[in-house]
Amino acid sequence: MSGLVDEGKEVMEKVEEGPVRDAALIGAAQKVEHYEIAAYGTLCAMAKQLGYKDALRLLRISLDEEKGTDEKLSMLAEGGGNQRAAKAA
Ligand SMILES: [Fe+2]
Repeated sequence: MSGLVDEGKEVMEKVEEGPVRDAALIGAAQKVEHYEIAAYGTLCAMAKQLGYKDALRLLRISLDEEKGTDEKLSMLAEGGGNQRAAKAA
C-alpha cells in the first residue's frame, strides 16, 4: 500500500498540474481501491470459510464501499477526465 501511495506522490511531483495529472491521480487512486478490494475479498472468503458470520457481514460492507469508490473513480475518468487528458497530452 505504501508503494501505491508513493506512486501517487510521484505523480504530484512529476506531472504538471492539469488534466493529465488529474487522470493520472484517478488511476493512482484506483490502484489503491483495487488493492483494498482484493484484500477485503480475500478476508470475506476466509470469514465465510471459517463461519465468522458477523465478521463477514462487516467485511462485505467494507468491500462494497471500496467497489463503490472504484466505480465513482471510473465515472470520473470515463466521464471526461481521460478525454481531457488525451487532448492535453
Ligand atoms: Fe478505499
